[in-house]
Formats: sequence, C-alpha cells, structure tokens
Amino acid sequence: MRKIHLFGNWKMNMLSQETDSFFTILAERLTQSPDLCLAVFPPSVYLERSRRSIVELGIADKVSLGVQNVYHEDKGAFTGEISPSMALDLGASYAILGHSERRSLFGETSEFVGRKVSFCFQKGLRPVLCVGETLEDRDKGLAWSVVEEQLSKGLLDLSDPSGLLVAYEPVWAIGTGRSASKEDAQGMCCDIRNWLAKKYDVRDIPVLYGGSVKPENAGEFFSTEDIDGALVGGASLNPKSFLDMIP
Ligand code: G3H
Repeated sequence: MRKIHLFGNWKMNMLSQETDSFFTILAERLTQSPDLCLAVFPPSVYLERSRRSIVELGIADKVSLGVQNVYHEDKGAFTGEISPSMALDLGASYAILGHSERRSLFGETSEFVGRKVSFCFQKGLRPVLCVGETLEDRDKGLAWSVVEEQLSKGLLDLSDPSGLLVAYEPVWAIGTGRSASKEDAQGMCCDIRNWLAKKYDVRDIPVLYGGSVKPENAGEFFSTEDIDGALVGGASLNPKSFLDMIP
C-alpha cells in the first residue's frame, strides 16, 4: 500500500514558544503508522529547536523535519542563504524547492530551482519540487504547459530520481481557502506522474497536492489514485488541525 505524505510548511510563522507547544501537543496524540510519512518544515532558525523537541518528546521516529529553501552551494559568501549541508547538520531530511512564493516574491526561475534540486541530490537532502500555475495561466489554458516547463527545467540535470518528491500547488489555491477540486488536482497529479514515468521509467515518485488543504478536505484528496499526500500551509500551524488531516 502507498504511503500518505502529510507535510506541514510553516512558512514564516511560529516563534520559539509556539514551536515548543506545537511539538508537545503533536507528541501527545501522535501514533505510529506505517502508511504515513509526516514532516514539518519550520523556519530554518527554528530547525535545531524543532529537532531537540522531537528527540526529547520521543517522536523523532514518527515525524521528520525539512527546510523551506536552500542555496546551491556548500559554503561561501552567500549572505542570508543556508546550504543543504547545514540543513542536514541540523536534522532536516527534506527541502522544499521552487515554492510559488519563492518564484513570485523572490524571482526564482525554474533554471535556478533546477540547480538547487541537483545540489540537494548531490548532498543527500530530499527535494520537494513545487510546481503550479497561476489563475491567469489556467484561464488561458496554459496550466499544463507551465507545470511541464517547471518540471523539465527543475529536473533538467537529474538522471536518478530516487528520493524526489513533487508537490503540485496551483498558485490560485495557496492561502486563499479555495482549493482545487479533487478532480482537477487528481488530473494534474496524474499528468505529473505520467510525465515523470516517461522521463524516469518509474511510477512511485510521491506526488503531493497543496493549496488550502485542511481537515475538512484532506481525505478527499487522499482518496484519489494519484495524490500521495499534501503540502499544507495554514492548517499545519495548529497541531490539532495538522493531526486531524492524518487519514
Ligand atoms: O506550502 C504550502 C502551500 O503553499 C499551501 O498553503 O495550505 O496555506 O494554502 P496553504
């Protein structure tokens, strides 16, 4: 049976006390499930604190950690950036790359994202490559061509995809309360899976959906054939709603 991935992207939210309290509440209710892959992506300044929490609370085998971005160099004069080695050193297993907020607010191109994907693989940090179209793209009938371009450039230098995850996040569904319909999300995730299968000859790369996922609709997405989990923003900030999305 496939695993469901429930990934919580905190974005630029949560301070020390909120981080501590999140993991304390999570630990009280979290049970082991072999079919679940749970990960939290705190701001990188709280990564070490998060790792300490999950170790002290005894849930480090049930929840993984990740970072929301990294740079494609190991070290050097790159003010403000962190490297995959630093993320790994502080306990991260995953890195979200190419999130639409990085693309739209910080000018990240698909080529730039691709360099980071390759470098993460080189270092052993698992990339969660985010792709997704804007509402304007969708209205013009360009949704798939935008996603395909993000996939092909983001994975240009990747010959072996072992460890890769892809998250389909339509920009218009992020933080808006308006999620994609189950059918639309399934359709796009199926197209992504077929594209990945054509390039790599494997069909088991996890494909997640993200965009206004919450306890009320998570189950619908998880019931589809090609959605292997969710990358959740807002609803992952509250440990109770995060836990309520576990199938
Ligand atoms: O990375 C998470 C996505 O941007 C979704 O955010 O659940 O707040 O819509 P959201």
